[in-house]
Amino acid sequence: MASRHRFSTFSRRNGRAHKSIAQHLGIIGSVAALVFSGSCSGQRPTDALMGGAGGMMMTPEFATLREAADAAGKYIGTAVDAEALRNEEKYPEILAREFNSVTPENATKWGPLAPDAESYDWEDADAIVEFAEEHSQAIKGHAFVWDQQTPSWLSSSMTEEELRTALKDHIQTTLERYRGKIGAWDVVNEAVDMDTESGYTESIFYDKLGPGYIEDAFRWAHEADPDVLLYYNEVAIERAGPKSDFTYELMRDLLDRGVPIDGIGFQSHVSTHRYPPLSNLRANIRRFADLGLRVNISELDARTVLMPGNQQERWSAQRIAFQQVVGACIVEPGCEGVTLWGFTDRYSWIADETEPDDPLIFDRNYQKKPAYEGTMDGLKGLLPVTLESVIENGDFSMGSDNWDSVGGTLAIAEATETNGPAACVSERAEETDGLLQEGLLSSMKQGGPFSFSAQVRLKGAESETTNAHLFVETEEGSTEEHSLATVPATSSEWTELAGYFGLGFEGTPTGIELLISGPPADVELCVRDVQLNPLTTRSAH
Ligand code: XIL
Repeated sequence: MASRHRFSTFSRRNGRAHKSIAQHLGIIGSVAALVFSGSCSGQRPTDALMGGAGGMMMTPEFATLREAADAAGKYIGTAVDAEALRNEEKYPEILAREFNSVTPENATKWGPLAPDAESYDWEDADAIVEFAEEHSQAIKGHAFVWDQQTPSWLSSSMTEEELRTALKDHIQTTLERYRGKIGAWDVVNEAVDMDTESGYTESIFYDKLGPGYIEDAFRWAHEADPDVLLYYNEVAIERAGPKSDFTYELMRDLLDRGVPIDGIGFQSHVSTHRYPPLSNLRANIRRFADLGLRVNISELDARTVLMPGNQQERWSAQRIAFQQVVGACIVEPGCEGVTLWGFTDRYSWIADETEPDDPLIFDRNYQKKPAYEGTMDGLKGLLPVTLESVIENGDFSMGSDNWDSVGGTLAIAEATETNGPAACVSERAEETDGLLQEGLLSSMKQGGPFSFSAQVRLKGAESETTNAHLFVETEEGSTEEHSLATVPATSSEWTELAGYFGLGFEGTPTGIELLISGPPADVELCVRDVQLNPLTTRSAH
């Protein structure tokens, strides 16, 4: 499968091999066509660009996101809202200028395409396809099979055979119409649901056809157009963990059995205080790529309203979230590109469906937000810089210095199955009993963003939720509680408990402490390698 053509127009149209940013950097000064600002930064360059070496580096400047993506040989795409494209002035202007790839946000879903059982309404989809062709943008169609936005005429009274025929017909008719125009399709979307017994989403498709509908859909698509690239798309698998593992096994099984599947999209609807740690995301991209799949970030947006802090604080944390996710894709050879789920906060599904949020890179008036710069930095392959941890004695090399326990008994011991010490809290009387570090005020009072990580392991329980919180006492007399991270920990292995703290505080802090706790009473909680690192964007502009 991997030998089929890229869906992006840039490699096919230009007919030349694309250079990575690293290659460009290697030829600074000899290529007149590339404009470099000449700005130098003394900060540590990313390992991917400079092989981990320290010192000065030159950063290329690009006028638009798509220029930066082209230079990296990757794509930067966005979901497109057909209404906004039609009715707004700024929307098409920015869409054409900044993106080299598009995905219809709703127009190519089954429901919107097939308002009745006899006919199709191609108008919105056609408009987006025409626009993309006019502006040399690659197109990924989205999505043939999803449990949501299905046609209203699909009903549970249909027989298995009627449903199968309708689905096959829909996939093949749509592929036929856009043959040679849309180079890639999400064939199946969100078929995994870890809250069901089977692990599969309980949809009309699963209920009537069983999990076999997944491979059937890919085979029908391949039969109709063997040249088109076919993707599986899934929510909340960007972070390696149980859902990502389940999806990985599903992909491996499908590929083993010769199902024509070319790639996978990690949706990546993140929140600015919750996105995968860099090492986790990169390793996750790599393992799917190692199956022979193209990997992409397919629906990136980053909510901010779940965090406290003023807009400036939330938006600067958001900048780093975009930089990190986009940057991870750029520096990982197995990742082909990133699609944002929209680009202006004026049109975001998240703002639509819940309280108003601001998860995208342009504001409601089409002005660039800090997240635009974060995306640009990421496209240049610049990753956020992690500064030294503010936790004292986070590796417990000085025994229990600086640490305490809330409830229970704290002991430092050689960690199981790994080198170095761990701190274990036994005889815990409540869920909130755990490991405590006080005295974080001076290093944290300016606010974040910070990335948090620790390794956790239980004794006396199979799997229990473990979490990390900051408790902040304020001059105003309140105590703020901020969740840093949550993970199901087990007794069989060390698990990473990781997350973000993205901002400032509601009140003026007078005391800040970290507590790692969560499992039920009597479960012994062991912790090692605790880190809370300030993050900064690498570039100072
Ligand atoms: C969303 C659209 O953005 C909304 O406009 C629509 O009302 C609902 O669907 N995962 C997906 C996307 O795969 O298709 C969803 O898009 C967002 C979540």
